[in-house]
Amino acid sequence: MPKTFTPPVLLLAAHILFSSFVFLEADQNFTLLITVQPWFPQVGGEVLLIPEESKEKVDTCSWFRWDTAEKNQILVYQPPPVKDVQYKASYTGRESVNTDCSLQIRNISISDITYYVMQRNTTKESEVGQIFLVVIEKQSDKKKRTSVSGGAVAGIFVACIVGAVFLVIKIANRAENSLEPSPE
Ligand SMILES: *[C@@H]1O[C@H](CO)[C@@H](O)[C@H](O)[C@H]1NC(C)=O
Ligand SMILES: *[C@@H]1O[C@H](CO)[C@@H](O)[C@H](O)[C@H]1NC(C)=O
Ligand SMILES: *[C@@H]1O[C@H](CO)[C@@H](O)[C@H](O)[C@H]1NC(C)=O
Repeated sequence: MPKTFTPPVLLLAAHILFSSFVFLEADQNFTLLITVQPWFPQVGGEVLLIPEESKEKVDTCSWFRWDTAEKNQILVYQPPPVKDVQYKASYTGRESVNTDCSLQIRNISISDITYYVMQRNTTKESEVGQIFLVVIEKQSDKKKRTSVSGGAVAGIFVACIVGAVFLVIKIANRAENSLEPSPE
């Protein structure tokens, strides 16, 4: 984390979110590191989700919202020389992909607050990474320069609650799945 001044509420939010990441990572083998730029994008703005560079030649990159279910797939990208993008069920018209497989989302809103999952298949392996996107309310119409607006606090608070609830659902689902006999 960059050492910039951060209001306590952001630190708290970050702490809760990172705790979730660590917990989920341990369970799901998320080996692919994904970063967000900027860290706290504003409503109406754009955000870039950047996967760490691959050492192998990348065949396909698939982006998903929330999990890797087919209905949650945003797009599948084949980097150059193929350079093909296939838009899927969860594509909203605001997403685009770059040659490094990073995903750009424009005109983001509070409803974009969720997990984003990327599956990257190389000639050797298939790797999965996950990031939780936090969106904060636009602050440009604020007259006073307060450190964090009420809206932003509310946004972060909602994000944390949503994150926590999702986490619980995910764990519950997994527990359920593990009770069922696997067909494999
Ligand atoms: C996750 O990794 C561990 C060890 O690295 C391995 O034993 C386990 O099978 C993996 N789980 C999945 C779902 O790939
Ligand atoms: C951005 O999204 C909002 C809804 O979230 C929509 O009302 C607005 O028209 C969009 N703006 C652009 C420039 O697409
Ligand atoms: C990537 O590999 C995984 C595991 O082998 C597979 O399930 C998935 O369909 C592959 N993705 C694409 C886009 O080929």
